[in-house]
Amino acid sequence: MLSLVVLISGGGSNLRALLEACDDAEYPARVVAVGADRDAEGFEHAERYGIPTFSVALSSYPDRETWGDELLRQIEQWHPDLVVLSGFMKLLPPRVIAALSPTLINTHPAYLPEFPGAHGVRDALAAGVAQTGASIIVVDNGVDAGPIVAQRRVPVLPGDTEASLHERIKPVERELLVRTVLDVANGAIDLAALARD
Ligand code: GAR
Repeated sequence: MLSLVVLISGGGSNLRALLEACDDAEYPARVVAVGADRDAEGFEHAERYGIPTFSVALSSYPDRETWGDELLRQIEQWHPDLVVLSGFMKLLPPRVIAALSPTLINTHPAYLPEFPGAHGVRDALAAGVAQTGASIIVVDNGVDAGPIVAQRRVPVLPGDTEASLHERIKPVERELLVRTVLDVANGAIDLAALARD
């Protein structure tokens, strides 16, 4: 059974999808804790499943490194096999990435390496592309630049707004994430090998 710590910053719809998947006895993963950099709205999903949460706010620490050390301490006390950044909107300090990668993945609402960063959906729309997508990557020290684990295209439709496009991308992200965690658990995806390539 693959144990997961999931980090969020917002509503946690990807987290909810993972929790629903993990609720199936046949699914080979379990969320052991959910963390955030704030009192995230998405904690409600964890609470519904009785899963512990922790919050480590950057503003409570003198610098990003000290914040990262505390976040890492909180994560490591759960001894997760895999850490999932699922709408976690802060960049992790290199020390944290070095400690967790390659069993550290991130979901992103664009077809990387297209449109990295905090505004992947907005940037795709502004670029006027006909299609964007969703990606799961191994986190490295770049911004959304790590090895791609899974991705799928999503069309941009006439009249799309950032919100409507994001709402169409999110179900694809959820499917990719649930599938990726399954494949990591059953050995079909080898994150260490992907990170070495
Ligand atoms: C997701 O679309 C995720 O890919 C994105 O934030 C959303 C969180 O939704 N993350 C990024 O843009 C990271 N660069 P959720 O809180 O409902 O899961």
